[in-house]
Amino acid sequence: MNNKTAVGNAIGKIILMGEHAVVYGKPAIAIPFPVTKVKTTIYRKRGPVLLDCFYYKGILSGAPEILLGLTQVIKDITKSFKEELEDFSINIESIIPPERGMGSSASIAIATIRALYDFFNRPLTYEELLRWANVSEKIVHGNPSGIDAAIVSGEKTLYYIKGKPFMPFEFKLNAYLVVGDTGKEGQTKAAVEGVRQLIEFNIEEGRAMIEELGILAMSAKNSITINNAEKLGQVMTKAHIILDRLGVSDDSLNLLVSAAMDNGALGAKLTGGGRGGCMIALASDREQADYISNKLLNSGAQNTWISSLGVDSIDK
Ligand code: MEV
Repeated sequence: MNNKTAVGNAIGKIILMGEHAVVYGKPAIAIPFPVTKVKTTIYRKRGPVLLDCFYYKGILSGAPEILLGLTQVIKDITKSFKEELEDFSINIESIIPPERGMGSSASIAIATIRALYDFFNRPLTYEELLRWANVSEKIVHGNPSGIDAAIVSGEKTLYYIKGKPFMPFEFKLNAYLVVGDTGKEGQTKAAVEGVRQLIEFNIEEGRAMIEELGILAMSAKNSITINNAEKLGQVMTKAHIILDRLGVSDDSLNLLVSAAMDNGALGAKLTGGGRGGCMIALASDREQADYISNKLLNSGAQNTWISSLGVDSIDK
């Protein structure tokens, strides 16, 4: 029996364009967001497996349903190693706000998968990491496109199309991204299901909106390639209007998107699953990003982050 303490880390993510449409095979752009991160520590402790995280502290078998994806992966990995599911404890520290469209569930799963492989001294390939992460994501989100697991595990900006080889690309734009947290938990699973129902009951209109979101994601990629922040801002705002019509925005997100636009943002939209969670705004320079960030906080945002897109670094 080893007595090692094992650690696994993972970062958060931001979807710039293409959420929801990506479930239907349209392209999406997602960027790693290292300012938000998760650390899982596993250590030897006699007795039943214990889990200590934001949602729950206690024995693994008593964890609430919201952690089902994570607990299933822990059980399946341990079984695949032919190890006993006992005599260790798992501690998860996360500064990714949960259920805010920042990839918290994928990040928690990925940090924990890395820690488990380390704890049991097994080599972990990238393919295995992704496969396990998607086992968890399927339980958490029902019908995930796989974008969250892909971006969190690979930590590179991706132009992502479900089922296609990953397409990393260099993201250098003379602009800043402001992320605003509504403070309200998003509902990715319900939002994905809502979109599915809308398409089922209103096939033509639903499909047209998904199609348009795909075209906007392609246009966003072109705007980034030619370093045209104004154009990227415009397509972001157009995407938000469609996402709102698809039923995945809400008053809290629309309020922050309007506050950003009223205060000089080049564009603004929700990010991730929606129905709460986070929004993003594009600013032309750092001064404008700070200004928008303050306005978002004055308008009720619980937290904001600013990221320079020019040098791929997170400034706050
Ligand atoms: C969630 O971060 C992104 C969605 O498009 C769902 C998915 O792609 O699995 C809403």
